[in-house]
Amino acid sequence: MSNLAAILPSPKAPLEVHPVPIYVPGPKEILIKNTCIALNAIEAKIAIHNVLPHTPYLAILGSTYAGTITALGPSTTSFSIGDRVVVSKRFDVKGNQYGAFQRFVVCPDIMISRVPDAVDLSVPASLMMNLTCVVGLFSGRLGLGRPRLDGGVAERRGKKVLVYGGSGSFGGLSVGYLSAAGYEVVTTSSPRNRAFVEGLGAERVLDHTQDGEVLVKQLVERGPYDVVVDFVSVASTLAVTGRVVEAQGGGILFTMQPGREELPVGVERVFEPYSESLYEGRNRELQRWVVEEYLPQGIAKGLIKPLPIEKVGGGLKGLNEGLRKMLDGGSGVRYVVDPWE
Ligand SMILES: NC(=O)c1ccc[n+]([C@@H]2O[C@H](COP(=O)([O-])OP(=O)(O)OC[C@H]3O[C@@H](n4cnc5c(N)ncnc54)[C@H](OP(=O)(O)O)[C@@H]3O)[C@@H](O)[C@H]2O)c1
Repeated sequence: MSNLAAILPSPKAPLEVHPVPIYVPGPKEILIKNTCIALNAIEAKIAIHNVLPHTPYLAILGSTYAGTITALGPSTTSFSIGDRVVVSKRFDVKGNQYGAFQRFVVCPDIMISRVPDAVDLSVPASLMMNLTCVVGLFSGRLGLGRPRLDGGVAERRGKKVLVYGGSGSFGGLSVGYLSAAGYEVVTTSSPRNRAFVEGLGAERVLDHTQDGEVLVKQLVERGPYDVVVDFVSVASTLAVTGRVVEAQGGGILFTMQPGREELPVGVERVFEPYSESLYEGRNRELQRWVVEEYLPQGIAKGLIKPLPIEKVGGGLKGLNEGLRKMLDGGSGVRYVVDPWE
């Protein structure tokens, strides 16, 4: 057996494909033969824009992947060799053995989920990072309720959430999660993705491409909101969402990245890697629910609605093109790569 990885040799350089060792998993770790790498915006921002300047080089990036278990650490009891699984790496974990951009990857035995035989591995891989962030933010951090998985109608919770950017992956999964859990969701989309977003259960879908003043007015009219999240968080969207929070007397604006954009007085920008709360001891049961119930059952029962998936050709070398496509917009699509191609 040999391993092959796409390595980032220095900041902003193209990834290069080189042989690397096959790793031996630690006591509570698992070795996975990786057959599907799913791309996330953060990897593109690190590789192409160097947004994490302290990245140790040579670096093997990549956070979300799926495949088959080939070896188990001696203290791992919940999984077996041959299990089909999907993994999302914890943000900022150090060590090249944990990066998804290679054929064999090591993962700790926590954020890993079995994939039912009938489900294509690329589907859970394409959404696992963002899904864990959805649950981490709304239930782990904010204490909001979860959706039922038995098909029953959720009780109305009497709370309203603004999901700015419901047509993206993180935003769309949030619309589905919150709506199914009984919250009233107001969201935004471009006209071309509107039909998809409407199918996720939002109460209102507003056109984010219309005039900014009109959009702010419409969003404010449909408030006030108990929670406001800007799932795009660039200057032009923060200018809108900041004013919505200001109009309801100030408060927290949850954002996707740290930044220096000026916000109205009384608006506090909050950012964190949103899956982090799932690693806290008090959220242990919630974390277990995500990987053992919500992710596998939600996909199998059609409760989680994935975005369309596009495979980028060229194997590990093709990651360069995939990362570029992510940064160029990738509207309404998730990209995957087969590292064995
Ligand atoms: N902090 C965390 O824990 C965390 C976790 C995951 C992701 N993120 C970050 O969250 C962001 C979204 O990630 P994602 O995976 O959801 O990305 P994505 O699926 O690629 O989102 C793209 C969508 O955002 C919308 N959009 C893009 N630019 C816009 C603009 N200027 N105004 C309004 N809408 C715009 C577009 O909607 P239309 O096509 O309808 O125009 C597009 O479809 C990324 O920055 C990512 O790094 C943060």
